[in-house]
Amino acid sequence: MHNIAVMPGDGTGPEVVAEGLKVLAAAAARYGFEYETTEYDFGGDRYLKTGETLPDSAIDELKGHDAIFLGAIGHPDVKPGILEQGILLKARFSLDQYINLRPVKLYPGVETPIRDKGPEDIDFVVVRENTEGLYVGAGGFLKKGTPDEVAIQESINTRKGVERCVRYAFEYCRKRDREKNLTLCGKTNVLNYSQDLWLRTFEETGPDYPEIETDYAHVDAICMWFVKNPEWFDVIVTDNIFGDIITDLGAMIQGGMGIAAGGNINPEGVSMFEPIGGSAPKYTGQNVINPLAAIAAVQMLLETLGEDEAAGAIDAAIAYVTAGKLESLAVGKTGYSTTEIGDLVAERVGSA
Ligand code: IPM
Ligand code: MN
Repeated sequence: MHNIAVMPGDGTGPEVVAEGLKVLAAAAARYGFEYETTEYDFGGDRYLKTGETLPDSAIDELKGHDAIFLGAIGHPDVKPGILEQGILLKARFSLDQYINLRPVKLYPGVETPIRDKGPEDIDFVVVRENTEGLYVGAGGFLKKGTPDEVAIQESINTRKGVERCVRYAFEYCRKRDREKNLTLCGKTNVLNYSQDLWLRTFEETGPDYPEIETDYAHVDAICMWFVKNPEWFDVIVTDNIFGDIITDLGAMIQGGMGIAAGGNINPEGVSMFEPIGGSAPKYTGQNVINPLAAIAAVQMLLETLGEDEAAGAIDAAIAYVTAGKLESLAVGKTGYSTTEIGDLVAERVGSA
């Protein structure tokens, strides 16, 4: 029995989560696994009513689940930063979800802004460190608000934190079993402390994985190559902020936020899966948003729970729908409503 916590969140989050759950139900029926869901209403509305983001008691409850399915966090009436830090980052940090796993995969029939590239060229995975770096909130002001003001934002990188991320990436690359090529994305030419630690850790860990070819790319250069030669990449490992930035670029080359999903993974604990596109509040309640990213998040969730067959079926069903049904992935241009897309994928999963 899989115990899944569901946090639909804000804006269109609940609509896409409903479609993800529809597909989950179809997969469970077809592949014969059992699961239970517990819903949590953390998000902007609850914060506006109670002042609460994600309390410690909720973290304890979440720890009692096998996985978390998150819709989207972000509310137009809440000051930017409060929900992101109070809910999303708090969950990542408190649950020690030290990996942010972001597949960049162009499904068949999906339009990419990169001319002349197809599904065979765009299929790689970014392993982003998810609990350290610039995200720890270390730093401070001196003489705030005066002409002599100083603002310091520190990037914290621990040997342990870097190594567990790098090791996860090597293991993931081995398991993925494609080109067996792992690229470290960094900025060693300028950031001579943090990136030095990353490079040394990468180089010292590599010999444990002799079959994996390793490579290094500066973060700015990798942005060029994602666009020019995405086929060069298999698995990429990088720190928190670089990973944040390059995975938005990755999402665009795979067809946009309508399809991009990610996992916040604690390999020894509870992981959380989400469409990475945000809450898109202006489309709330219109049944127009594309739920494929949320459905792809369910696929990643099932993979993590060891339901590989069901996960594979969802992946194939997404490909079936993008290749043969949808006109586009863009909001309002798919040719189908949110619920209809969920139906299409669920039916395919149920009948495959
Ligand atoms: C992401 C998001 C978050 C991040 C924000 C909402 C804090 O952009 O998941 O990539 O920066 O990690
Ligand atoms: Mn981001």
